[in-house]
Amino acid sequence: MTQSSALPLQRVGMNGPLVTRIALGCMGLTGTWNPQEFGPSHRARAITAFKAALEAGINFFDHADIYGGGTCEEVFKDCLQAVPGSRDRIVIATKCGIRPGFYQLDAPYIAECVKRSLKRMGIDYIDLLQLHRPDPLAHPAETARALNDLLRRGIVLHVGVSNYYPEQIRALQRYLDAPLVSNQISISLGRLQSIYEGWDGGDGTLDQCMALGLTPLAYSPLTRGFLTGKREVPTSDERMSKLVQQLDEIAHKYAATPAQVALAWLLRHPAGIVPLVGSASPDHIREAVGAVSVTLSREDWYVLWTAAWGRRVP
Ligand SMILES: NC(=O)c1ccc[n+]([C@@H]2O[C@H](COP(=O)([O-])OP(=O)(O)OC[C@H]3O[C@@H](n4cnc5c(N)ncnc54)[C@H](OP(=O)(O)O)[C@@H]3O)[C@@H](O)[C@H]2O)c1
Repeated sequence: MTQSSALPLQRVGMNGPLVTRIALGCMGLTGTWNPQEFGPSHRARAITAFKAALEAGINFFDHADIYGGGTCEEVFKDCLQAVPGSRDRIVIATKCGIRPGFYQLDAPYIAECVKRSLKRMGIDYIDLLQLHRPDPLAHPAETARALNDLLRRGIVLHVGVSNYYPEQIRALQRYLDAPLVSNQISISLGRLQSIYEGWDGGDGTLDQCMALGLTPLAYSPLTRGFLTGKREVPTSDERMSKLVQQLDEIAHKYAATPAQVALAWLLRHPAGIVPLVGSASPDHIREAVGAVSVTLSREDWYVLWTAAWGRRVP
C-alpha cells in the first residue's frame, strides 16, 4: 500500500487502478431518483459533494447508470467541468445491467449501456465497469464477449462485478480475457454474510476475493446510516440497538465517531475492503475519511463482530 498526501492508496485487484481506501458512493449525489424534478439545487448539491470529496483526498467515485434515474451520471459531467483537470486524477466506476423489473447482461445491451454512460458523464473511457447484478438469462460467455470487446478497444480499462456469488465469478472469469478486479457487495457490521463461509448463511465471498486477488468494494458500509448512531433504529431491532451502543463505546476509546469505527472495522479486514460511503454532506464525507486513522485492535474488531452477530465466537 502506498501513501498519498492524506489518504492511503491501494490497488483494485491485481492490475487495477490505485484508489483511496475510502470511496464516494454516488447513488445519492443528486438527491432525487426523478429526472423530471432535477434542478439547480440538485446540481449544486452534487458539485459541493464532489468538491468536498476531492478536497478530503478521495479519488474513487462509484456510479451506476440507474442512480438518480440517470441524473447522478449526468450531473457528474458538471462536477468534472467544475474542477478542471479532475477527470485525469480520479477513478470512475459505474455499473450496468439493472432494468425496471429485470436484469440484462447480453452483449448488445452492455455495449449500449456503456455508450450512454460515457455520453452522460462526458468522458471517453470508464476506469471500472461493473456488472450490477448477475442475470440468470445471460450465459457468462455472452456477457464476457461484450466486456472483452470494450477492454480491447480501451473504452473500459477494468472490469468488476457486483452482488456476484463465488461460483458466478468463476463462471464469468472463465470467458474473460482479463482478470476481474473487484466484487461490489453489501458488507458492513449490519450485513455479515460475506465474511465467513458456513456461519449463518455466510457465502465465502471475502475468502474468494483473497484467493483470486479481487478487491471487495463495500456498499452500504454504514448500513444505510444506522451505524452512524445518528439514524433512529426501530425499537424492534434489538441487535442493531446494542451494536450502535457498542460502536459508541469503542468510538470513545479511539477518540473517533461511531461512523469512523464502523468504517475502520471494514478497513481492518485483510481482504483490502474499500468502503463506498454514500453521502452528499461535506461534513459526513470528511468524517468518513477520518476512519483511515483508526486502527482497531484484534480484540475490539471481534467485540464488534460478535455484537453485530448477536453471539460469542464458538
Ligand atoms: N452494488 C449495489 O447493488 C449497491 C447497492 C446500494 C448502494 N451501492 C453503492 O454504495 C454506496 C453507499 O450505499 P448507501 O448509500 O446505501 O450506504 P451508506 O453509506 O451505508 O449510508 C448512506 C446514508 O448514511 C448517511 N450518512 C453517511 N455518513 C454519515 C455520517 N457521518 N453521519 C450521519 N449520516 C451519514 C447518508 O446521509 P448524508 O447524505 O446526509 O450523509 C445516507 O443517508 C452508494 O452510493 C452506491 O455507490 C451499491
